[in-house]
Amino acid sequence: MGDLTGKTALVTGASRGIGRAVAQRLAADGALTAVHYGVNEAAANDTVAAIEKAGGRAFPIRAELGVDGDVDTLFAGLGEGLSGQPLDILVNNAAGPPAGPIEETTPEGFDRLFAVNVKAPFFIIQRALPLMRDGGRVITVSSTSTRVATPFQTSYAMTKGAVETMGFTLANALGERGITVNTVMPGATLTDLNAALFEDLGVEEFISGLTALNRVGLPADIADAVAFLASDDGRWVTGHVLDVSGGMYLGPRI
Ligand SMILES: NC(=O)c1ccc[n+]([C@@H]2O[C@H](COP(=O)([O-])OP(=O)(O)OC[C@H]3O[C@@H](n4cnc5c(N)ncnc54)[C@H](OP(=O)(O)O)[C@@H]3O)[C@@H](O)[C@H]2O)c1
Repeated sequence: MGDLTGKTALVTGASRGIGRAVAQRLAADGALTAVHYGVNEAAANDTVAAIEKAGGRAFPIRAELGVDGDVDTLFAGLGEGLSGQPLDILVNNAAGPPAGPIEETTPEGFDRLFAVNVKAPFFIIQRALPLMRDGGRVITVSSTSTRVATPFQTSYAMTKGAVETMGFTLANALGERGITVNTVMPGATLTDLNAALFEDLGVEEFISGLTALNRVGLPADIADAVAFLASDDGRWVTGHVLDVSGGMYLGPRI
């Protein structure tokens, strides 16, 4: 598994966390990788530098998602970086964080979350398709919030439910081009997204205790699963939601 030599990849939200690990892994497997980010230029440059230090090829693209013209900005940067090469792998990873329980969720916050987590991935895929070679890969990052009910995550979980449905239906639409469309579902993973949560004493231990494999996830755990779906070994998997949570909340552990 893992020979992506001669291929290209776009990973959204690749400056930090899971996206960064995905970009590093796809680049290590040989793909020229576009490292997309929203605001944190230093982190995106660090990701590119780490890839290049390991012998890979990458370039950064800045585009804030969820604002007018976001997809235009993203694809202008992508076109420049790929200089005419087609796209093989698209990983829709960037997402906004949970907006809190229903009592605290404003219409503006709700719209913003859907704009970043649902509308942007949908229209990024739409714009990527003409650039994509037949046999390409579309992978979107969901969350175990779609199968584990957590009250502060309701609107966030709704966005993740939407992208899971998107993946399932697009897989059927794009199969005739040999493009696979899959979704990966991380559980609690140590990144900036939930750094504050993990600062609370005992939270990591608590979540580990709810997880069959008895620890929280690391970005590389998710990246390796994405790499499988992106590789030739994943060619017969499409329309699938792959749980990459170490078995979070599978049931009582008694
Ligand atoms: N961490 C977890 O426990 C966990 C669990 C389940 C699912 N997930 C999912 O995994 C994915 C990655 O999460 P993560 O924990 O790695 O997040 P993270 O550490 O907060 O990193 C988020 C990345 O997305 C980019 N981003 C966020 N909002 C953006 C926007 N509006 N426009 C452009 N870029 C934006 C950020 O870029 P900048 O740095 O430039 O802002 C950053 O590169 C998300 O889809 C998340 O929902 C995470």
